[in-house]
Amino acid sequence: MIQTENLTKVYQMGDAEVRALDGASFNVDKGEMIAIMGPSGSGKSTLMSIIGCLDAPTSGKYILDGLSVENMSETELAEVRGRKIGFVFQQFNLLARTSALENVMLPLTYAGFSGKDRNDRALKALDRVGLGKRTHHTPSELSGGQQQRVAIARALVNEPAIILADEPTGALDSKTGVEIMELFQSLHRDNGQTVILVTHDAYVARHTDRIIKLSDGKIVSDEVNKNPIKAGTKREEE
Ligand SMILES: Nc1ncnc2c1ncn2[C@@H]1O[C@H](COP(=O)(O)OP(=O)(O)O)[C@@H](O)[C@H]1O
Ligand SMILES: [Mg+2]
Repeated sequence: MIQTENLTKVYQMGDAEVRALDGASFNVDKGEMIAIMGPSGSGKSTLMSIIGCLDAPTSGKYILDGLSVENMSETELAEVRGRKIGFVFQQFNLLARTSALENVMLPLTYAGFSGKDRNDRALKALDRVGLGKRTHHTPSELSGGQQQRVAIARALVNEPAIILADEPTGALDSKTGVEIMELFQSLHRDNGQTVILVTHDAYVARHTDRIIKLSDGKIVSDEVNKNPIKAGTKREEE
C-alpha cells in the first residue's frame, strides 16, 4: 500500500536548513494499524503530510497504492489525496455551527456525489462511529470524544484506502482517548482499514500492531507489537 525509500524533507529557514526528515524508509501493507512515536520536532507531522500527499518530499521515493507520488504536482497530489486518504487531527477541525451530518457530507460534496447519496453515506459513517443519534448536533453541542468521532466519520466517508491521524487523542482525557483508540481498532478489525497514527503516548501506541519511532527525522526503531491492548482493558497506573 505504502512504499517509501530514503524520504527527506529539508526546510530552508533563511540561511539555515532544517532536515525535518532525514532518510526515512518503510513500507506499510494494506490493513495494518501503526503508531508513529517520537519527541516533539522529530518529524512526525512532516512524515504524515508526505504520506498524506499534503506535501512532496525534497528527495526519496514514495509509492502509494502503485502510484508514484513523489514527483506529482500540487493538483495531482490533491486528487490522489481526495481519493485515497482520510485525515483526523488533534483539534478535530470541524466546521463550527454546522451539524455533524453536514460536516461529514463535506468531502462528498467536493467529490461530486448527489444530494441523496451524500446524505445516505454520511448517515452510515456517523452510525459506524456510534453517532447515529447525534446527526443534527453542532460541534459545540458535542463532547470532545464525540467531536473526534464526527471527524473520524468525515475521514471514512469517502472510503479512503488509508486513515492518517496526527495525535487524535491529544486533546482528549485518557479514558476518552482510549475509546477513540478502540474505535480505530474496530475499523481496522471489521473493515480492514489501514490506520497510521501519531502519538507521544506509549499507552495509546500500544493499541496498534506496529510501532515506528522517529528521532531527528530518522526511523530509529520499527517493531511489531505482539500484544496490542484490547478493548475493555483497564489502564494500569504508570
Ligand atoms: N513549514 C516548516 N518550515 C520550517 N520548518 C519546519 C516546518 N515544518 C516543520 N518544520 C521543522 O521540522 C522539524 C520537524 O517538525 P514536525 O514534523 O512538525 O515534528 P513533530 O510533528 O515530530 O513535532 C522541526 O524542527 C520543525 O521546526
Ligand atoms: Mg507534530
